[in-house]
Amino acid sequence: MDLDRSNLPEGEEKYEVVREMFDRIAPRYDLVNRIMTFRLDVRWRKKTVKALALPSESIVIDLACGTGDFCIELEKADMFPLGFDFSFGMLEASRSTTQLSQADVLRLPIRESAIDGVTCGFALRNLTALPAFFEEVARVLKPGGRIGFLDVAEPENRFLNWGHHLYFDRVVPKVGALFSDKSAYSYLPRSFSYLPPYQEIIAMIEQAGFEQVERKLFAPGSAQLFSGKKI
Ligand SMILES: C[S@@+](CC[C@H](N)C(=O)[O-])C[C@H]1O[C@@H](n2cnc3c(N)ncnc32)[C@H](O)[C@@H]1O
Repeated sequence: MDLDRSNLPEGEEKYEVVREMFDRIAPRYDLVNRIMTFRLDVRWRKKTVKALALPSESIVIDLACGTGDFCIELEKADMFPLGFDFSFGMLEASRSTTQLSQADVLRLPIRESAIDGVTCGFALRNLTALPAFFEEVARVLKPGGRIGFLDVAEPENRFLNWGHHLYFDRVVPKVGALFSDKSAYSYLPRSFSYLPPYQEIIAMIEQAGFEQVERKLFAPGSAQLFSGKKI
């Protein structure tokens, strides 16, 4: 991954830059996602919901829900989802019938130990503080509650890694410029560098009060799932 974070915003500035960017790209977000991932994003979300291994009618919150794609999959799996995101633009662009609310996922309007499961898709790198996020998730989950955090990854195979970089560094910004917003889709590959190595992410999740924390790579190695159980 490009480890140069020197020109990327942090803290309050990052919060505002990210929110403004998603408000701007919201109307075409789903379309560009499908093109950019060849619809693999849909398959990865389905696998994440399956990996939660929760019984039907479980209450699952999707954090940084964007346009609600995870909520659609959770409903198909007979869960009771609720979505939260800080971008009104993304919430407005939703095609989901789930109740979606505006909230900062670091300060959820939910009481302690109320929720059976939590999903989060492609948003870890957009947050300003990962440990605080994992602690907030632990606060609202019941003991035994499950997590499924899906995010981008880099293929470990050298050839696939080269192709991955070529695609995300060169092709994706052009696709983004064609259908949506050039600067937002140039930011995307650079934002990968916000994600710590997976071993650190696992340690942070465990530190927040989870066990059985595992990381799984999804083919072709460009997405990773962190799963676990609240102690
Ligand atoms: C790449 S999108 C992912 C959307 C959706 N989860 C998906 O799977 O397509 C990242 C989302 O994170 C949201 N986000 C980033 N930081 C947030 C925060 N602190 N609180 C709530 N939402 C946040 C953005 O508004 C955006 O909708």
